[in-house]
Amino acid sequence: MIQSKVAGVGKYIPEKTVTNDELSQIMDTSDAWIQERTGIKERHYAKRYEESSTTLAYNAAKIAIERAGITAKDIDFIVFATITPDYYFPGCGVLLQRMFDMNEIPALDIRNQCSGFVYALSIADQFIKTGTYKNVLVIGAEVHSFGLDFSNAGRNITVIFGDGAGAIVLQPTEKPGQGVLSAHLHSDGKNAEILSMLNPGFHCGVWLPEDQKPVKSDKPYADVFINQEQIAKHDFYPQMDGQAVFKKAVEKFPEVIMEALTRNNLETSDLALLVPHQANLRICQFVQHKMKLRDDQIFVNIQKYGNTTAASIPIALCEAWEEGRIKEGDLVCLASFGSGFTWGSALIRW
Ligand code: ACO
Repeated sequence: MIQSKVAGVGKYIPEKTVTNDELSQIMDTSDAWIQERTGIKERHYAKRYEESSTTLAYNAAKIAIERAGITAKDIDFIVFATITPDYYFPGCGVLLQRMFDMNEIPALDIRNQCSGFVYALSIADQFIKTGTYKNVLVIGAEVHSFGLDFSNAGRNITVIFGDGAGAIVLQPTEKPGQGVLSAHLHSDGKNAEILSMLNPGFHCGVWLPEDQKPVKSDKPYADVFINQEQIAKHDFYPQMDGQAVFKKAVEKFPEVIMEALTRNNLETSDLALLVPHQANLRICQFVQHKMKLRDDQIFVNIQKYGNTTAASIPIALCEAWEEGRIKEGDLVCLASFGSGFTWGSALIRW
């Protein structure tokens, strides 16, 4: 039976470090507030006018491809997860295909926010298992810093997010028990707007309550995607009800991790490493405590990078591997929760 194994991992973190103290120079916040609520000490920002999600992804992918012992010409499918794409369309997948001058392979873009990488991995896994592709490049990359609100109005979100990219190469293996054992994906759109960036968008206010509907324009075909009122109100930044997200995250993380373990007749004590989406240190600690995991069974690096959404799991996975925390035969669980809400897990025997 064909399974997919992780053949190579890579990450790229932009050079520029931004500390909490630096943020407190430009908005009303403090190192103490940020560390106490989120555990974050610093994050990295991409170089404006020089870098983008695709260029960060390129740097991460180069490393993953090299570590997999192949070249870019061997990649036969790209699955690219991001919520900060270079263009509204086309997606980053084709831009990456162009940067590498790859063959005319398919390139799929995934928009599942913090769960983007787990969704992307699950899709890649299916194509390997069916024997369709042999070297799939799975990417998570974000440049949040280009689209955050650096005024006080955005401080609850802005202090959390950072930029970066992670990549893996998935390949088939026939070694019994090795590779992706199972992946589990979920969504619940009841609270889709709780953590969202609504504009620019094509929604015309259809989902919004009466008091938030856009002012109707009498122009026949304009002012819908983004209008002057939204621009004047700076209504084009991410928004979040942090406490509602927290409550749901600490419920769904353990649930979806247990779903993966139970499906494979395994227990938390079998886990060598849980690599959760780095949403917030407090969420990771809550999950660790609830699941009774030892410190060496969970990987957390949000202190250095902040929350990098779709990039957080592949960056953490790569770093854990580089630090020697993942070895052949180890049972590794990836788990995510994020906007949508969407959540998921994947269990991998390394
Ligand atoms: N610095 C200083 N004060 C701030 C900041 C800031 N950066 N942001 C908000 N505040 C203030 C608020 O204005 C408010 O002040 P007030 O009491 O005078 O009105 C006060 O701090 C408390 O605000 P809350 O929004 O209630 O802050 P909370 O204690 O809930 O902490 C946080 C916010 C950290 C976002 C928390 O809700 C949380 O951890 N939520 C989980 C969501 C999360 O981690 N999201 C990450 C992205 S989603 C994902 O990846 C799953």
